[in-house]
Amino acid sequence: MCGIVGYTGREEAVPVLLQGLYKLEYRGYDSAGVAVVQSGGLKVVKTKGRIKNLDEKIQQEGGMESVCGIGHTRWATHGAPSDVNAHPHISRNGRIALVHNGIIENYLELREMLTQEGFEMQSQTDTETVAHLFERNFKGDMMQALTATVKDVRGSYALGIVSADEPGVLYCTKRDNPLIIGVGEGENMIASDIPAIIQKTKRYIVLNDDEIARVTPESVELYNALGQKIAPEIQTVNWDISSAEKGGYEHFMIKEIMEQPKAVRDTVSPRLENDLPRLEDSSLTESLFQNLRAIHIVACGSALHAGLVGREVIERFARVPVFASVASEFRYRNPVIGEGDLCIVISQSGETADTLAAMREAKNRGARTIAIVNVVSSSAAREADSVLYTWAGPEIAVATTKAYSAQLAALYLIAVKAGLARGTLAEKEAREYCRQVNQLPELIQQALRARPQIQYLASLYSNRQSVFFIGRGVDYAAAQEASLKLKEISYIHSEAYAAGELKHGTISLIEDGALVVALATDPALYEKTLSNIKSVKARGASVILVTERQMEADPEICDFVVQVPACDPALSASLSIVPMQLFSYYMGVYRGCDIDKPRNLAKSVTVE
Ligand code: AGP
Ligand code: GLU
Repeated sequence: MCGIVGYTGREEAVPVLLQGLYKLEYRGYDSAGVAVVQSGGLKVVKTKGRIKNLDEKIQQEGGMESVCGIGHTRWATHGAPSDVNAHPHISRNGRIALVHNGIIENYLELREMLTQEGFEMQSQTDTETVAHLFERNFKGDMMQALTATVKDVRGSYALGIVSADEPGVLYCTKRDNPLIIGVGEGENMIASDIPAIIQKTKRYIVLNDDEIARVTPESVELYNALGQKIAPEIQTVNWDISSAEKGGYEHFMIKEIMEQPKAVRDTVSPRLENDLPRLEDSSLTESLFQNLRAIHIVACGSALHAGLVGREVIERFARVPVFASVASEFRYRNPVIGEGDLCIVISQSGETADTLAAMREAKNRGARTIAIVNVVSSSAAREADSVLYTWAGPEIAVATTKAYSAQLAALYLIAVKAGLARGTLAEKEAREYCRQVNQLPELIQQALRARPQIQYLASLYSNRQSVFFIGRGVDYAAAQEASLKLKEISYIHSEAYAAGELKHGTISLIEDGALVVALATDPALYEKTLSNIKSVKARGASVILVTERQMEADPEICDFVVQVPACDPALSASLSIVPMQLFSYYMGVYRGCDIDKPRNLAKSVTVE
């Protein structure tokens, strides 16, 4: 997490850096700073807080004039958010400034060694050791010093560096954290993500692990780990700057909730042919599914929740065992996975450290890997055996909505394809499901019409202390995502429970004032869930029932009914989640929370 940006060109660097940092603020936002090369020296301004605090501080200090500099927005891992711990960090002699994303795992050893050699640490960060190490390794050549420095550090990093002795030059390198180089005309940039460079250029180079770049206004020199010069591959961003702006909405989150029909349509339509899934581009062929032993879905947070829906649907259609695992647990569990297994990793960012590590583990053990990823050319996309992109467009709000919905759609296509290949789903049924998947954008649009009702419900319940989401089957999987969303956005304690499991303990928490949101969209399970709902209602809970049935609220069952469009129960999470996302959003709004940047979170979790 954290955002890095760097600029070298003919314009004033600081406004470009600040604009870039604003665009990267979703990646971390507890402190920020910039460093520029100025009349033979470095000038650094940094502060605890948001980019706007940095902006103000720079103005108070009389501005910073330069055509080259680096900036950082931090998500602290080592050392509390504070002015002194904010990046950039400078070397002892004040000639080098650097920004870092990641964790230096051997920083304690390095700290000790450097302190013994007389380097005094100013901050509590792991990052500062790299700045001093750089000075220690510097023998007059930046490339040589950088190569030597990364050899000395263990851990993960993306680094951006400027030197007082080389005005107009940016150096950067990375391992396990993303970094791109924006290629402009007479100006170039480095950044953690595309939104930071799109103000200047749509052309970019993705840096691979251990590559080092030397960037000037006119040139980008790229070197591999052996120090050999390599030819950069320039890619072009295929979306517009407006996709990464709020476009009249108050928050990115509500904009992205409203964009879900498009996200699902863009993910599904190019992959349907004659009402059947065409996934050969992602190397998901019939023979792959025919010879499968098991499928392992591995992901974190909401992406895992999408995987839980995927597990239900794939098992239903393809009759193959599917295991869904928390990525951070998977790799340390000595998992039973190997040849003949398919590992599906799901990630919006494609940079989540836990997910990447789990994928590598699966690969090492001989499983085939496929990544369902939203960010083009991200690490997961590049490292997996094959990739199936969700075309949700850039997602800026920290809480995911449209990427989750696009992930569900991708998983439905995989489930149908697998069912067809394994002969457990007849072609006629497969076509019918695909027709329904194709109709989802329209149905999601209908589900979004519940917005005023949901806003009203949030106004009623926003002062509740605790919320329970219950459901069975796919509804339970959707309930887990609904609960996470509420926690993230409104800071209300919530839990998701399998409706039938509540009575085995957790029902003791139900009393007057508890709010229970019951998802019951599967007609086959409705009666069963209904009994569970009645048992919480009888104990004083307020109940919101989310169902596809047309029904009035009945005081013995629920206080309110939120009706979602009917569809095949296997696909219902795509519709029931919509009012739940809106509910979290409005609960957060009524509680005055920071919707797009909830406390303690960051969009891309690149640490373990
Ligand atoms: C979603 O709202 C969360 N912010 C979080 O759980 C997220 O889904 C998780 O960190 C995984 O991220 P990824 O999809 O980028 O891998
Ligand atoms: N580990 C560094 C720190 O705590 C960088 C964190 C980040 O990636 O923002 O300062």
